[in-house]
Amino acid sequence: MSPQAFWQISYLIAAILITLSIKWLNSPTTARRGVRAGQIGMLFAVVGTLLRHEVVSYEWIVVGMVVGSAIGAPLAFLMPMTAVPQLTALSHAFGALAAALVGTAEYYQHQPHGFRMFALVVETLLGYLTFTASVMAFAKLQELVPTRPVTYRGQNVVNLSLLGIAVALGAWTIEGSAPGWAFPAFSLLALLFGVLLIIPIGGGDMPTVIALLNSYAGMAAAAMGFALNNKLLIIAGALNAASGFILSVLMCKAMNRSFTNVLFGAFGQAQEGSTTAAQQRPVRSASPEDAAAILAAARKVIVVPGYGMAVAQAQHKIRELTDQLVKRGVDVQFAIHPVAGRMPGHMNVLLAEADISYERLHEMEEINSEFSEADVALVIGANDVVNPAARHDTSSPIYGMPILDVDKAQTVMVIKRSLNPGFAGIDNELYYSDRTLMLFGDAKQFVAEIVKQLPKVA
Ligand code: TAP
Repeated sequence: MSPQAFWQISYLIAAILITLSIKWLNSPTTARRGVRAGQIGMLFAVVGTLLRHEVVSYEWIVVGMVVGSAIGAPLAFLMPMTAVPQLTALSHAFGALAAALVGTAEYYQHQPHGFRMFALVVETLLGYLTFTASVMAFAKLQELVPTRPVTYRGQNVVNLSLLGIAVALGAWTIEGSAPGWAFPAFSLLALLFGVLLIIPIGGGDMPTVIALLNSYAGMAAAAMGFALNNKLLIIAGALNAASGFILSVLMCKAMNRSFTNVLFGAFGQAQEGSTTAAQQRPVRSASPEDAAAILAAARKVIVVPGYGMAVAQAQHKIRELTDQLVKRGVDVQFAIHPVAGRMPGHMNVLLAEADISYERLHEMEEINSEFSEADVALVIGANDVVNPAARHDTSSPIYGMPILDVDKAQTVMVIKRSLNPGFAGIDNELYYSDRTLMLFGDAKQFVAEIVKQLPKVA
């Protein structure tokens, strides 16, 4: 088989595998297969590309691979699960930078015309702005820069004007009569716009913004595919762009927020006054022994994990607790809110890591009607996703967000360290209800204590 035929077949296999990968990633039961398919698809894409006759020097490619692996492998192995949003931001930054640099090299080497120049300008604009925006998103999530939204008067006008000038310079470049300084100025403005885009957004909203940046990076890659006449890049880039966009829409919907609210809403700043006042209200608290006795006597328990479970890395202890309760004949199910935690699928990934059966995991719409039949709703490190204010308090920042109806269970037990608010920065009236018992402590330690206190069964 000629190298030409070989790379074309490799690209075809890669395109099929990458498309299937996205489909399989749709459900926890097929997600592992989806990851494998994506990895093998990328391998075919890389090997196919290496066999193309346009490759002039393998030495520099090897240098690039060594440097890339030296950065990528430690990042993948050393970053903890709670830092996956940051890691995702960094990988978008690198992908977008690669697209922008390829666009810049194409511009200076080949000066294409017409539609290819249009694609190159789109690729470079999106590539550079996604690069700096993703680096900023990483820095905010890693708390290397202030995470709070930074806003000032006329901010949107300044930002949109900068983008407008960059687009005008890009249009001039496509038209063909632009002077030599236009392309570097266009690139610098795109880089600057990326930084300014992220400054007014709070650290907590970064996961939604990262999904949007994923979409931009995909569009940059698809535009690069048009500029280089590479069909695989067009397919993979378009899939990336569409899935990133759909994901960010779903995240906004699950939080009952609009895009404009995420991008310009300065959300997630703690409302100090209300919290302090609320904390003076009495709550009922209980010990691990009490909790163990209630759970052991229950017929049906619904566990609601949240961000605190991820922070405490409590999933393995929760698995032990589940096993113990199931042995006693208790029906244990898990209710997963679409935005519990800080990234899409956060809870599913952690529970899967602890080998908790997928059959026990239920999405919100599926399980909400079952809370009224549950003896216990055991909330572990979740807060906003179970806050009843979302149903009736029109002044609440989470008003309208669909929530898990834990307050309909006979008894609600909430494991968290204090009465402090969660992501939305608001108090939770659930904690003061007659049906609620607060179990104060670190989620992992508290669950471990409950397991110890449960009378063992053979
Ligand atoms: P949150 O409302 O953020 O509450 C988490 C709670 O966990 C906190 O109140 C905290 O209380 C507790 N916690 C922290 N560390 C703990 C530990 N070691 N042990 C026990 N508890 C601990 O979480 P949630 O209910 O999962 O809601 C997620 C929020 O994030 C929503 O508002 C959602 O809109 C937002 N969000 C989600 C996403 C995605 S895609 N998932 C993206 C962006 C934003 P203490 O400090 O008292 O312990």
